[in-house]
Amino acid sequence: MHSDFMSVHLVADSQGKLSELRPMLAPHFTVTSSLLGGEDIRHGGFDGVVIAADLKAVESISALKEVFSKFKNARKRIFVIDQKARLLVFQAYALGATHVLTYPVTQQELLVTLADGDKSGIASGEASAGTQQAASCGATALASMFSAVLGGKPIDIAGAKHAASKIADSIADDGLSTWLETVRRHHEGTYQHCLLVMGVAVDFGLSLGLAKMDVERLYSAAMFHDIGKAKIPLAVLDKPGKLDAEERALIETHPAAGYDILKQTSGISTEILDAVRHHHEFLDGSGYPDALCAASISDVVRILTISDIFAALIEDRRYKPPMPRDKAYEIICGMRGKLEVPLVVAFKDVALSR
Ligand SMILES: [Fe+2]
Ligand SMILES: [Fe+2]
Repeated sequence: MHSDFMSVHLVADSQGKLSELRPMLAPHFTVTSSLLGGEDIRHGGFDGVVIAADLKAVESISALKEVFSKFKNARKRIFVIDQKARLLVFQAYALGATHVLTYPVTQQELLVTLADGDKSGIASGEASAGTQQAASCGATALASMFSAVLGGKPIDIAGAKHAASKIADSIADDGLSTWLETVRRHHEGTYQHCLLVMGVAVDFGLSLGLAKMDVERLYSAAMFHDIGKAKIPLAVLDKPGKLDAEERALIETHPAAGYDILKQTSGISTEILDAVRHHHEFLDGSGYPDALCAASISDVVRILTISDIFAALIEDRRYKPPMPRDKAYEIICGMRGKLEVPLVVAFKDVALSR
């Protein structure tokens, strides 16, 4: 861990929080701090920023927007919010946070979150600025989308598609492996998952030689595929370990919920609606929500489903280390009858080497 070389800036909305949090960071990082809305902060040059503020206070929001715009190049942008409310978490991500913690935080939580980029053993410089930017932009778009759904506001479809197209460009330029490492290092939870699915789906589409229009369909479908999860409580969504029958049933409502949300929105094609509703269907009819069989499952959906399963397996979650890509591919190969065999064969290259 090279954390002693990291420079961290701390911003808080009260002197009390500053005096509590600063000593937690000071022994491990080069720390500067300021009060929210207070003196001017020097631009750039920080590896991390920790912002502790009450997101419910309306006057904080514009000050926070300004702070985030100054720190958009910091690798870690940790938001410490006052209450663990789902909408506040979404809002923090929409403002540009890479991680969200709840006040009061422990020193351990802060240090682990600031340092976990080092565990991959890959120097941060290796991910291109373009890849990092595309990932941040994608995460922000996802967060805005989820917070819109939760707040009953319209979704910015054009913004989401624009972010997805940036991701597609980044995969074409820098490749899938760079994308996977960057996303797993800097993003968490549902956003990490959706960003991984987008990357895998785009790369799969490119490797199959799909037409540009189909690749576009694929990444848009991937962007929106789990939007229904906005309606599922975090306690279930982020639960480590096995879910009970009731929790599983709740999770399984997300494809139809996503479909219902998007069907009222203009700018979403029928192919994307179909993909959102059916990305958990299997060829043998054992999937959900409609227990479709092979003939009713489109090519876009088949590709998305394989990308989704692979992305879920290789996720980096706080409670489990990421599964190696070859192990994940083995599991996909073992899902006999559920996935299209020629596609699974074609996926090998994406899974293992691209
Ligand atoms: Fe899903
Ligand atoms: Fe998914």
